[in-house]
Amino acid sequence: MLNISITKCDAPKAKPDPSTLGFGKIFTDHMFMADYSHEMGWHNARIVPFANISLHPASTVLHYGSEIFEGLKAYRRADGKVQLFRPLENIRRMNNSAERLCLPQMPEEDMLQALLTFVEMEQDWTPSAPGTSLYLRPFLFGNDETLGVHAVHNATFVIIASPVGSYYKEGINPVRIMIEDEDVRAVRGGTGYAKCGGNYAASNRAGERAAQKGYSQVLWLDGVERKYIEEVGAMNVMFKINGEIVTPALTGSILPGITRKSCIEVLKGEGYKVSERLLSIGELSEALENGTLEEAWGCGTAAVVSPIGELCYKGVQYPVNGGKIGTVTQHLYDTLTGIQWGKIEDTYGWTYPIEK
Ligand code: PLP
Ligand code: COI
Repeated sequence: MLNISITKCDAPKAKPDPSTLGFGKIFTDHMFMADYSHEMGWHNARIVPFANISLHPASTVLHYGSEIFEGLKAYRRADGKVQLFRPLENIRRMNNSAERLCLPQMPEEDMLQALLTFVEMEQDWTPSAPGTSLYLRPFLFGNDETLGVHAVHNATFVIIASPVGSYYKEGINPVRIMIEDEDVRAVRGGTGYAKCGGNYAASNRAGERAAQKGYSQVLWLDGVERKYIEEVGAMNVMFKINGEIVTPALTGSILPGITRKSCIEVLKGEGYKVSERLLSIGELSEALENGTLEEAWGCGTAAVVSPIGELCYKGVQYPVNGGKIGTVTQHLYDTLTGIQWGKIEDTYGWTYPIEK
């Protein structure tokens, strides 16, 4: 159990107009912080006014990228209460990421306590306009004040929160995606299954090139053979091919998404054939050409479900489902957002209420 001290800010900010939210531009009044050292373990847990963080110029994170993060949301229900969606899944993934990056893990119950104490305090920042939520960003970084390369001995854990609208400017409208056959996001044996900052830095060049050509994001291929589909942008990806729902198997270079897991559970529960398997670019191209690719979508916390309306491979553009959102994609969006915003009954036990 953490002993969390609380220092309230002197001048709370005005809550933003929901139409100005965007994604991750506005932050709440406070943040959670805790320090770790080899000698003391986790200590100095505190909620303090939101402010810049001061770092030693030799701090590990600035040189060797020892950083991991999570992303989850607090949702305002129609009855005014605030709830989280599967927070223990994020906590477990955060510890798996920490293990991969040689950063300290935090006991699950302590991380949950930190998250709940912080969200309880900031819950008034959870917007209520349709499609809006309070995005929670826990992150953890190595903070040794030395240039030696080794496992981290000192670290800082922080949680910040940002009221958000939709992630893509397109919202739930289909996006155009370019298949990337040069850069790769991650490799098996590397850090693809961990949510570490370096994976995103490595992704940016391809994302920028795609944007210059008018695409929202790239579809990643595996790093060894550039043959198997992995993810789309910073989301997991799913396809409906000839009636079968196919999503790439978690081979180590793919982030095990909580939205992905939830989509699979919903679809399997409704009797769909869902396969987590290898899907080659050859099989996908064939399905694009012979019209058996019925739907494609990305899934992740930020956008929930994002339909893919066009795939471009080696300069050839293929519309998917006539550029429109498909019925399975729409159904998943409605089901997940319905549960998240408390509009439909949560028969799965995924929601986690916050005390008022
Ligand atoms: N893949 C990557 C690379 C991501 O950054 C995310 C976002 O968190 C996801 C997939 C989707 O994961 P989740 O559904 O847990 O948000
Ligand atoms: C997601 O939630 O789907 C994300 O990928 C978050 C992103 C801002 C890193």
